[in-house]
Amino acid sequence: MWFKKKESQDIQSYFTRKWLGEWKVSLKNSTDYKNKGKNWNAPLILKFDPIPDVLNSENAIGFFLNLQYGECYDMRFAKPEDEDISDVILKADKTTWIKLIEEKKDPTMSIMKGKLKLEKGSLVTLSTHRKAAKALLETAPVYSAQHVNQVDSKKTDKAQKRGTLKHKKFITTSKGLNFESFPMQLFQKAKKYGIWNPSDIDFSKDREQWQQLSDEEKKIITHLSALFMAGEEAVTLDILPLIQVIASEGRIEEEMFLTSFLWEEAKHTEFFSRFVNEVMVSRPDFEAFHGPFYKVLFYEKLPIAMNRLTEDASPLSQLKASGTYNMIVEGTLAETGYEAYHKMLKENDLLPGMQKGITLLKQDESRHIAYGLYLINRLLSDNPGLRGPFEDELEELLNDATNIIHEIFEPYDVVPFGLDKEWFLEYAIKQFQNRINKLHLNI
Ligand code: MN
Ligand code: FE2
Repeated sequence: MWFKKKESQDIQSYFTRKWLGEWKVSLKNSTDYKNKGKNWNAPLILKFDPIPDVLNSENAIGFFLNLQYGECYDMRFAKPEDEDISDVILKADKTTWIKLIEEKKDPTMSIMKGKLKLEKGSLVTLSTHRKAAKALLETAPVYSAQHVNQVDSKKTDKAQKRGTLKHKKFITTSKGLNFESFPMQLFQKAKKYGIWNPSDIDFSKDREQWQQLSDEEKKIITHLSALFMAGEEAVTLDILPLIQVIASEGRIEEEMFLTSFLWEEAKHTEFFSRFVNEVMVSRPDFEAFHGPFYKVLFYEKLPIAMNRLTEDASPLSQLKASGTYNMIVEGTLAETGYEAYHKMLKENDLLPGMQKGITLLKQDESRHIAYGLYLINRLLSDNPGLRGPFEDELEELLNDATNIIHEIFEPYDVVPFGLDKEWFLEYAIKQFQNRINKLHLNI
């Protein structure tokens, strides 16, 4: 474990009048909170369930904080009637609150992982203020944390020499391929369902319908396609270092699956390019749709995370690569993008060729994401000390993803096809949350 609890004396000092007084002072003096909380103006309650003795004796259910634009106007024990005037109520038991405070966890992530309950308020709103929420909790006084250096993350972070170039033995001729293993099962599925041919998709109806669309409708489809085209190309280009690492570790079953992974990404790249060539009459300036936040992730962070593996194949480096690629690019953004196509096309009975391709693509992606989760779980169970650094990385990446969604909606006063930004943000966060729940993470 990466932190040890000292015994009860410290624990008992939490949430007392004295503790609250100290928190008031440290929050007042925190320039970090003033800065990160400057857009936050919602009164909130940190609620306890069950109510511990220390709060019971104050007739309190938790703590009430009236936060306005980086300043704290009121901070006191919360009474039940404060619930009505609070925009946000976060609920957990005493042990969880202590853990959150001591380990300086991101409350938004903790909600996603089901450790902290959002009793009142919107997760979407909170996630846009996640840095404020985290900075706020960071100002709470800590009495008993004994942070053991988050395991030897430095040691594991160092470049690890990849396996020797010589083969000591072969799996097939020693213990045999493990057909029961998850990667082999995925490989079987890939051979069954991943064999569709983008060249067979009939775009004739799409071509006709494209002419009938309004300029704004064409614009948003072109916009989304511009993000997917470069996205598919990026994941095709950037997966190779991961395959190299897996191969050099002698994980033949995983590598066999990864052969289908790369070929499928190549087909996705082909699919979108065929759509452009066969349906759109002229070639628009696709790159004009790549906003600054999109560029940060797809032009920089993704290739950097993947190509780092050629120098540093450590478990942490692999976790960061898969977190970026499988959890965020595929598992959060692409999944949300498919839903946008679905809403625009399926619900309006438009562009059947594009619809068909998206359905097939989505099936392929579900295998890719499943492999990513398998890989992350394998790495984390072998290196439990890397959970903390990995979570920190995910926090940042989720931020990148939500920024991209905000950015996509920016150019539209009225979004064609009735697409709703809040709905998509919520959908993206839910996708991320689903993935997180499949990882065996602590808070
Ligand atoms: Mn793809
Ligand atoms: Fe993929």
